[in-house]
Amino acid sequence: MSTSVTAFAPGRVNLIGEHTDYNDGLALAFAVRAGVSVRATARPGEQMEVSARDLNERDSFPTRAPAGADGWRAYVRGAVAELHRHGHEPPSAHLEISSDLPRGAGMSSSAALTIAVCLALLALAGAEQPPEPELARICQRAEHEWAGAETGLLDQLASLHGRAGHVLLIDFQTLAVTPVACDLGDFTLVLLPTGQAHRHADSGYNQRRAECTEAARRMRVQSLRDATIQDLHMLPDTLARRARHVISENGRVLAALRAVSEGDPQTLGELLDRSHASLRDDFEVSTDAVEATVTRLKAAGAAGARLMGGGFGGSVLALMPPGTVAPAGATVVSPAPGAHLVP
Ligand code: GLA
Repeated sequence: MSTSVTAFAPGRVNLIGEHTDYNDGLALAFAVRAGVSVRATARPGEQMEVSARDLNERDSFPTRAPAGADGWRAYVRGAVAELHRHGHEPPSAHLEISSDLPRGAGMSSSAALTIAVCLALLALAGAEQPPEPELARICQRAEHEWAGAETGLLDQLASLHGRAGHVLLIDFQTLAVTPVACDLGDFTLVLLPTGQAHRHADSGYNQRRAECTEAARRMRVQSLRDATIQDLHMLPDTLARRARHVISENGRVLAALRAVSEGDPQTLGELLDRSHASLRDDFEVSTDAVEATVTRLKAAGAAGARLMGGGFGGSVLALMPPGTVAPAGATVVSPAPGAHLVP
């Protein structure tokens, strides 16, 4: 057992395929360069000691039986408890967390944190890394049970599978992840924060998820993946619009897959715009701050722009043609490697 290890897990950008993950659907996502690092140093005793360097905050809890907590502490305690629950004995350690990922920007800082904690503790114990779907589920349970957010597996799978130069086609029905070389020519993808931090636990996220489950139940399908536009007449208006977003978004993912692999950024831009319209009008997860940010990006010449992640704030993703200048505060993003131990 080594006495100190460091794990890194990146944040993610979802190119397209929003609110499809918990509906057994499709998404096209990638890991980014920024992320969360966790250095784990073995310590004797039964207590986990944690320091969050950027926040200048600390935590301390019994390794085998952490109690609930708020904010970033919920994710760390949840990751430790869920490792334990899944039979991976996490050793007592001092965990030092550092991050260059903005929190609340919709880039999955929470999934990056739980993955980095798990990878560091598993490596410290000398244990083999479980297969990605299992690790993703452990981290997802930390979000569900410890942070109260009923999220899908998009963030975890994108962070775990990231590959430089590739977008990841994720099929949430099978959890198959297929890296696809991404050719955007001279176009660039940028993220512009809306200035409105979002938290899944108290936004409308869980309600949207419940509406999708209810829509599938009323259409008598296992999940919205198995529903078609023709089935929507069975639903009352709101549920029909939620389901129409999910069904049409799966179609846009496949169209976007063709656009990125055939080097057709113009078409990709149109698909981003259509995804945004659907998220705004049918899924109703946009806000005034999001709309103002989309308008700024379109005014700057974006070929397409859409809210990214769960919605209700966070960041807007835009595709900028060559020769355009993104508004101040935008960051260029591109596909980067996935979570790993740092030698
Ligand atoms: C958040 C969740 C993901 C996914 C997206 C919406 O990022 O964590 O699981 O549902 O929202 O696509």
